[in-house]
Amino acid sequence: MKRLLSFVLFSALAVSVLADEGMWIPMLLGRNEADMKKAGMRISAKDIYDINNACLKDAIILFNQGCTGEYVSDEGLFLTNHHCGYSYITSHSTVEHDYLTNGFWAMSRSEELPCPGLTATRLVRMEDVTDRVLDGVTPQTTEGERAAIVESNIQKITAAAVAGTHYKAIIKPFYYGNQYFMYVNEVFTDVRLVGAPPSNIGKFGGDTDNWMWPRHTGDFSMFRVYADKDNKPAPYSADNKPYKPLKHLEISLKGVKEGDFTFVFGYPGTTQRYVTSDAVELAANIENPIRIDLRTIRLKHYNKAMNQSAAQRLKYASRVASIANGWKKWQGETQGINRLKGVEKKKESERRFQQWADGKAEYRDVLPQLHKAYERLRPIEVELTYFSEAVRASDFMSRTRSHRELANASTDNEAADMVAKLKKSNEKYFSDFAEHTVVDRAIFIETFLYMWKAGYAPYLGEQGTSADAVKAKLEKTYDGSMLNNSEKLQKFLDGYNTGKAKKLSDDPALKLYEQAYSLAYDATKLSTYRSAYADIQRLMRSYVKGMMEMQPDVNFFPDANLTLRVAYGHVEGFRPRDGVYYKPYSTLQGIMEKENPDIYDYVVEPKLKRLYNRQDYGRYGYLDPVHPDAGPDMPVGFIATNHTTGGNSGSPVLDADGRLIGLNFDRCWEGTMSDLLFDPDYCRNICLDIRYCLFLIDKFAGAKHLVDEMTLVE
Ligand code: ARG
Ligand code: GLU
Repeated sequence: MKRLLSFVLFSALAVSVLADEGMWIPMLLGRNEADMKKAGMRISAKDIYDINNACLKDAIILFNQGCTGEYVSDEGLFLTNHHCGYSYITSHSTVEHDYLTNGFWAMSRSEELPCPGLTATRLVRMEDVTDRVLDGVTPQTTEGERAAIVESNIQKITAAAVAGTHYKAIIKPFYYGNQYFMYVNEVFTDVRLVGAPPSNIGKFGGDTDNWMWPRHTGDFSMFRVYADKDNKPAPYSADNKPYKPLKHLEISLKGVKEGDFTFVFGYPGTTQRYVTSDAVELAANIENPIRIDLRTIRLKHYNKAMNQSAAQRLKYASRVASIANGWKKWQGETQGINRLKGVEKKKESERRFQQWADGKAEYRDVLPQLHKAYERLRPIEVELTYFSEAVRASDFMSRTRSHRELANASTDNEAADMVAKLKKSNEKYFSDFAEHTVVDRAIFIETFLYMWKAGYAPYLGEQGTSADAVKAKLEKTYDGSMLNNSEKLQKFLDGYNTGKAKKLSDDPALKLYEQAYSLAYDATKLSTYRSAYADIQRLMRSYVKGMMEMQPDVNFFPDANLTLRVAYGHVEGFRPRDGVYYKPYSTLQGIMEKENPDIYDYVVEPKLKRLYNRQDYGRYGYLDPVHPDAGPDMPVGFIATNHTTGGNSGSPVLDADGRLIGLNFDRCWEGTMSDLLFDPDYCRNICLDIRYCLFLIDKFAGAKHLVDEMTLVE
């Protein structure tokens, strides 16, 4: 009985550890098909990816190089997140037409706004090209030779693959170079903004709610792809026509229930699933705390300024969003790793690997050598973290960096070009200097001082330096630099030629930067760093190959690398901490609960409130069959166990029939360690319910013509 019980427990554990983890290659989805069907999927792997027929993959877009989008009409209309379209919405916004704040809805095709530089990429086909890429590589080939052979093979293979077509091909390594896949893509360049909700919907909850559940952000925007008369990619032209995709997604209005099968189809950016305990320790317990502390300093000063005036809020909003995004994620990641005992877990699996590897010439030294390589890498990695998070923290130091480039210009012509650019950016910089200098000076001094206290900064070995003395030096550097004196700098740059380089380099700011730079980027350290890094790449290739040999029955998913993937799981709540259970959905009621007219992130749009008060949700509301008399609810978000990461923003969340039910836009904070370790009890992706999105387009914005283009299934 006891044995039976422990067997049952063990197998339940084995299944749950595998459950829901993984970002799978669409072309190889056949391997997961039985598992997906068992989990509830009613379509086939071929419906998702098929080289011979139009399939779901034809509806998926790589939005620029960092988000996902999906076609929802046969006229090139696609959806992505608000935070993905953000910079395009901003770029069309002016004081008179503030689309960012007020939203934007093209009421006709002619009102759609071109977005130069924006690309929408469709995957035409993919192919395993491992043998061809590694043609010529033998066990005797050195790493350097290997890299050269791979590079030249890739050139040849990609050139041949797209010869005579308008396609573009790229080849990417998988499993640290044990496998290579080629992606043949079609890249569209005439992409126009069609719609975006106002900020207080598209960014509702702001950074306060970012990475958190329960969530109520209407994080979507809409674009349309245009093509030439042959439906092929073309640069912007008024003559272009809406693109006819091979496939667009059907949208389900049926809604989601806890336990429903879901999958996410999109472009996850980076994960590190197979790294060793040393790497996890370095990321979670050494680097993250440094980055978090240094960003806490910056956020403190920016937030203070943002609370002082609307102008300062506007000035710092987007930089604060990006600083805070990493800052918050790393905190969740480190807590998650430690809650999971991630380092010990990794060590345990390393012990198992070593037992298997002992006696095998190819593998026995891999882990000990990886450990040594990390010993060499770690101190330098830490120093570089300080450099990027402290030395690069202030505008003062980043301006110093660009003026240092001027000091290094080799000809007067080159210098003249740089001076022209610097003058422009300086002029802009000094336009609100009086307010900004208070913030930037404080950030500069505090971040450098923090670094000095940790033992990584200039002035370290100097005789008799105390924290106070260092602070005084930093103040003197800031106040004494001509970079902070608009008139002096203007005059100096006016007559600049390379003969003045010495004077520029002697400025205290450039001298300090030089010192910090040469500490972090010292040539010996750099070469140690490069060789340790190259060793890690090579050893990880063996390690992953060994793991696969050791467990031939396990289907290993390759780390994310910004290629198209499928992640599947279920709509499911979770227990973030003792005594708390999170339901898997949120509704409009939660927006009204969060409403606070005094807090920027929680201002509710009056029109939204009116619709709420009238329960005027049209066909998009949810009527509880048990309490129909209570009237309809408006679903807003839901969470599921799909394994996602940055890049999956905007990805379609699909149901068992492959119909669109939501847009992926975030992960729950308690599960952000999933880039390193996935835990099905805590890892949840956050999705916008498609019904809220359609309700906003139709009932809130009055842009029903856009919904009419879509294929809705009741
Ligand atoms: N956390 C999401 C992601 O990683 C959203 C970030 C943008 N939103 C924000 N409030 N900063 O991209
Ligand atoms: N917000 C992220 C993105 O822009 C997705 C959240 C995550 O990291 O999973 O891709």
